[in-house]
Amino acid sequence: MASKIAVIGTGYVGLIQSVGLADFGNYVTGVDVRPEIVERLSSGEPTIFEHDLTEYLRRNLDARRVRFTTAVSDAVSDAEVVFIAVGTPENGDGTSDLSQIRAVVDAIKASASASTVVVTKSTVPVGTNRWISQKLNGGETDRRFVVASNPEFLREGRAIQDFFHPDRVVIGFDDPDMPAARDARALLEDIYRPLYLTSTPFVWTTFETAELIKYAANAFLATKITFINQMANLAEAVGADVQTIARTMGMDGRISGKFLHPGPGYGGSCFPKDTKALAATGDSVGVDMSLVKAVITGNDAQKARTAEKIIRLSGGSVDDREVAVLGLAFKAETDDIRESPAISVVAALLEAGATVTVHDPKALVGFRAEMERRGFADGRIAYHTDVFACITGAEAIVILTEWNEYRNLDLPRAYTLMHRGVRSESRLFDTRNVLDPDAARKAGFVYIGTGR
Ligand SMILES: NC(=O)c1ccc[n+]([C@@H]2O[C@H](COP(=O)([O-])OP(=O)(O)OC[C@H]3O[C@@H](n4cnc5c(N)ncnc54)[C@H](O)[C@@H]3O)[C@@H](O)[C@H]2O)c1
Repeated sequence: MASKIAVIGTGYVGLIQSVGLADFGNYVTGVDVRPEIVERLSSGEPTIFEHDLTEYLRRNLDARRVRFTTAVSDAVSDAEVVFIAVGTPENGDGTSDLSQIRAVVDAIKASASASTVVVTKSTVPVGTNRWISQKLNGGETDRRFVVASNPEFLREGRAIQDFFHPDRVVIGFDDPDMPAARDARALLEDIYRPLYLTSTPFVWTTFETAELIKYAANAFLATKITFINQMANLAEAVGADVQTIARTMGMDGRISGKFLHPGPGYGGSCFPKDTKALAATGDSVGVDMSLVKAVITGNDAQKARTAEKIIRLSGGSVDDREVAVLGLAFKAETDDIRESPAISVVAALLEAGATVTVHDPKALVGFRAEMERRGFADGRIAYHTDVFACITGAEAIVILTEWNEYRNLDLPRAYTLMHRGVRSESRLFDTRNVLDPDAARKAGFVYIGTGR
């Protein structure tokens, strides 16, 4: 049966949730505080880049199963289920900034009628769903809110696919055996019914376990990345090949080769903040989270090391040299630049006196806004929509994101376009190991990979 659903916050998570649930046949109203987002989505223009999103958005707009508004009350007043998908960025001390969550909870309480199921998709620290439940049900009210914790595991770049084919769905209740929780479970089972039909595992659990599952999963993946980055650094120092090491480790089914790709450090809107929030949660209850803390410092060091290595292997200085940086998004197939290693690497190169030209197939606009926000005015960085224009005249190329466009780069052409003064060889820093070193050398480059 089709349900009436409100999704509050239509960023990466909320927008996918809105169009996905609408595609299941539900009636969804997506809410965002930013009018420009609502306007664009209402006209069928996605505000983020995700494969197939345009098609899903337009199809469900046309079928009148999804609509967008800035008014929480409009969306929530007759919704049976309200999903919260607003941001939970980090505070300066690593704890989570829950101000967006608090604002939304107040708005739901003011607008929801009858009994509403409130589902938290945002990543929130342990205790938050219990707090939301107490807040919604506190004071004089004859309404009964059932709160569920339903953390999101989508991968940016594959978010639509992950929505329709998740590895698992986790749903936590205050007490899963309470009658109200059983009713809410039946409603959520109904909403997610198509996933049942594809045998998606559902994990029904408590608030605290659901909240911690999300952080545990992200911290573990961040640990794998940091581990292989440190192995890459060691391989470099002793003359071993991290690619062969990672591939061979991955042949062991207990380890798996996923997330064993060395690079300039992890970024994105999740791993950096979620590892810090997990460490902060450990501190708040006096539990040792030293492994997670080592991952955080190890990742910061990897980003710094990437810039240092470029400078060191450019003869010790990039002062007055032009460096072409390819790839600004924190990973391929997304336009998200939040916490991207490109931000700190480009900043370090600029501070070392380089002139930097940059290219990215999707993330150029966001990166430009972020660098301007950080005080790097236009003029110091040249932004290119064409990769060969970006490379032309550069003395070094740095690949920071594993876009397929760079894997298939026409290396002889790139080499020809570069500047070759007396002082420079044409260096190619392949921080993601996306290129064939022999092919790069054959084209004329001094090839510098990571851990190989
Ligand atoms: N991005 C991911 O890949 C991902 C994956 C899993 C979980 N998460 C988690 O999901 C949550 C959302 O992440 P995101 O990347 O979608 O964030 P986002 O910043 O892209 O989107 C949040 C949206 O909420 C809107 N918003 C803020 N306050 C609001 C309010 N009071 N009312 C209505 N709208 C409001 C913002 O304008 C923004 O569009 C975070 O907790 C994040 O950790 C994100």
